[in-house]
Amino acid sequence: MRLQSPEVAARFERIRAREVILEARGLGKVYQGAQGDTEALRGIDFKVHRREFVCVIGPSGCGKSTLIRILAGLEQATSGEILLDGAPVKGPGRDRGMVFQGYSLFPWLTVKGNVMFGPLMNGSSRGTAEQHAREWLELVGLSKFADAYPHQLSGGMRQRVAIARALVNQPRILLMDEPFGALDAQTRSKMQTHLLDIWRNLDVTVLFITHDLDEAIYLADRILVLKAHPGEVQELIEVPVPRPRSPGQFTTTEFQATRARVDALIHPPVEAPPDEAALVDKPMIRFTDVADDIE
Ligand SMILES: Nc1ncnc2c1ncn2[C@@H]1O[C@H](COP(=O)(O)OP(=O)(O)O)[C@@H](O)[C@H]1O
Ligand SMILES: [Mg+2]
Repeated sequence: MRLQSPEVAARFERIRAREVILEARGLGKVYQGAQGDTEALRGIDFKVHRREFVCVIGPSGCGKSTLIRILAGLEQATSGEILLDGAPVKGPGRDRGMVFQGYSLFPWLTVKGNVMFGPLMNGSSRGTAEQHAREWLELVGLSKFADAYPHQLSGGMRQRVAIARALVNQPRILLMDEPFGALDAQTRSKMQTHLLDIWRNLDVTVLFITHDLDEAIYLADRILVLKAHPGEVQELIEVPVPRPRSPGQFTTTEFQATRARVDALIHPPVEAPPDEAALVDKPMIRFTDVADDIE
């Protein structure tokens, strides 16, 4: 089934014509533990183009966090390699910004202090670091809260700070591991739209992990679907939903068809056990004494 409109197909043509920023080649990871080895990833190959927005989705435990930690240089791959702008990744670096689900802000620093931290570590003067921090806080809409402390902010605001703190170093790629996973539905939806606005205005590539299908389709150009045990690339899907995106598109044919397709990949249909009908037919035990039977 081909759902791409000519406009969307042309968009993917243009994306493919851009340079490759990130490339994973035959990436594998085996964790060695007392209870034996866990093969978390096997033979992962993919390429991400400049300014592309790629989401990674897959069941819990399929190696999503492992993958992003290897890309960030926080974890060593057992096999294969990662190239960033054509050069092998050996460890963490300023060229990759990380945003995690947990609020990883320094609680003893103000919002501004948190954003200034990276530039100061990289040798910027206080004045320059402060100026950059103010610019990025403006971009994420938090100028008024520059002097607040993390505990005074809502969950959504803390993730905005985390995004500003990652972007202030002007990374080539933003690596996000379920960054909105702990937020309530309404805040989460606002943050998704906010992230798209930021991305549209920057020269930054995004690799975003989620287990929420709607989130992946709403945000991504392409979705990398992983399967579990071991984590392998199941499919790389081009999202046929046009840009700019808006929540109104959730009901469109392209959106729903993509949703059904990814859903079938992640949750393959299981056959009901033969005795399931018998289970449903059993009379229920009654737990009420009210006997007027009006229900
Ligand atoms: N540090 C670790 N040591 C041993 N096993 C790990 C470690 N981290 C993750 N694993 C295992 O690797 C697999 C993938 O984990 P993870 O990357 O966290 O998956 P996901 O983020 O998709 O839920 C799981 O089976 C998990 O138990
Ligand atoms: Mg994870």
